[in-house]
Amino acid sequence: YTIYVPCDTTAVSVGADKLAHALSTQAQQAGIELKLVRNGSRGLFWLEPLVEVETAQGRVAYGPVRPSDLASLWEAEFFKGGEHPLKLGLTEDIPFLKQQERLTFARVGVIDPVSVNDYEAQGGWLGLRNALTLTQDDIVSAVTASGLRGRGGAAFPTGIKWQTVLTADSEQKYIVCNADEGDSGTFSDRMLMEGDPFCLIEGMVIAGLAVGANQGYIYLRSEYPRAFNTLKTAIVQAQAAGFLGSNILNSGQAFDLEVRLGAGAYICGEETALLESLEGKRGQVRAKPPLPAIQGLFGKPTVVNNVVTLASVPVILAKGAAFYANYGRGRSRGTLAFQLAGNIKHGGLVEKAFGLSLHELLYEFGGGSQSGKPLRTVQVGGPLGAYIPAEYFNLPLDYEALAQQEFMIGHGGVVAFDDTVDMAKMAQFAMEFCVEESCGKCTPCRIGSVRGVEVIERIRKGEERDTNLELLKSLCDTMINGSLCAMGGMTPFPVLSALKYFPADFGVTAAPKV
Ligand code: NAI
Ligand code: SF4
Repeated sequence: YTIYVPCDTTAVSVGADKLAHALSTQAQQAGIELKLVRNGSRGLFWLEPLVEVETAQGRVAYGPVRPSDLASLWEAEFFKGGEHPLKLGLTEDIPFLKQQERLTFARVGVIDPVSVNDYEAQGGWLGLRNALTLTQDDIVSAVTASGLRGRGGAAFPTGIKWQTVLTADSEQKYIVCNADEGDSGTFSDRMLMEGDPFCLIEGMVIAGLAVGANQGYIYLRSEYPRAFNTLKTAIVQAQAAGFLGSNILNSGQAFDLEVRLGAGAYICGEETALLESLEGKRGQVRAKPPLPAIQGLFGKPTVVNNVVTLASVPVILAKGAAFYANYGRGRSRGTLAFQLAGNIKHGGLVEKAFGLSLHELLYEFGGGSQSGKPLRTVQVGGPLGAYIPAEYFNLPLDYEALAQQEFMIGHGGVVAFDDTVDMAKMAQFAMEFCVEESCGKCTPCRIGSVRGVEVIERIRKGEERDTNLELLKSLCDTMINGSLCAMGGMTPFPVLSALKYFPADFGVTAAPKV
């Protein structure tokens, strides 16, 4: 009997390791032969630990399973798909999963993440095999035609970035994967790396072939120790199987890969600070230009892409640019892995084509708030993203539609708040976060954020409210226009959106016009 118990960090945090251990010990004692596979998570976090069993009809899910449920589960012969109150039916038919369009995350939670054979059996390496038959220009053109844009948050067209590196004149070029996923409420990079690491590796090799880089680095945040181990194991396997190294699949082409750990600084997710850190220096932002595509790691042309961007490349090369571009709307092509977190009943990962509304995401997938109270706002795009009030929940989620209203999608993190939230406090928190994480290089961010905390504190106490509100708006203006990078330049967005849509929380009827 084949049983799946996720080894993903989220599942483990709610007891998946203990459960797996109890399952195998008890099976041994009962003389039942079990093949226990530690898969990634399916991304239905409220059901973790989600146990799946292989049956003739397909995989059947039970969850959330605690060790104390095992006695009754054995009795129900769950390992044969037996009936039990925790039985959820066929995993693929669970509405949260069934209504998704999983392209990048198609194998996450399905395969054994550290089995190179399992990866291949489920369609892995097809994109790389195709890429090996193409010219560099053709690979880049396919990525451009797919419409793929940077999934880290900035949504820059990936094909154009690759084109810049391809045409840069240099013997040495690099591929750097930004796996320093620091946005609050986000976990798609982690889920991908823990659940399907070969997909990221394949995407990086294809990127290397495309632009003529033979070395890649994954810059991983140190808070992801499981992803670290999974990636290291996967890299060794990929090397042994000939997908990495000096002669990839006997093509004469070379590409190799290393994982480097960060040290817990949010700013090291900013690409130039990340490059400094990779070079062994303090993680501080560099002025752009020059762009990393021209002068990146060790001064060489470098592709810096987020995990999900790179992991979306194999399916594009395997199934064609048109297949990918067929999903989505407007200039937002393909799918995005939205991450539902905060005060939400069904938290987890939803990969869908661009164009669905926040309402669908929060209610059809998320099931509304965890507290049962009305949802008042969501912060989309991490700690630098705006707060979107409920009256905008029907906006289609695509980069341009949100930008038009001064919102952003960013890395796809959606953090929900019910009507008990104090938005003035959240605005203060945005400034506090910037105080904590600023790299200190420029004044509007380093000093401005400290002043921002003080001013909001005074507003919240009702001290000279009108003057301080005007001061806050003027300070935000300075930070937006005077900061060197997105950290200081975007911290005002959550602050200003809170003030614009929830002025009552600041003790006024409307935000001041400055
Ligand atoms: P950006 O707009 O300056 O750059 C986007 C990317 O395009 C960069 O890689 C840049 O080097 C590249 N680029 C621009 N012009 C180019 C050209 N002509 N040729 C080749 N490459 C070119 O944005 P930035 O500052 O890199 O990122 C800001 C975003 O990061 C924010 O919008 C936010 O959503 C996101 N973010 C994500 C976090 C996460 O944890 N995923 C954390 C914090 C911020
Ligand atoms: Fe550093 Fe902040 Fe300036 Fe960015 S905006 S360079 S984080 S001080």
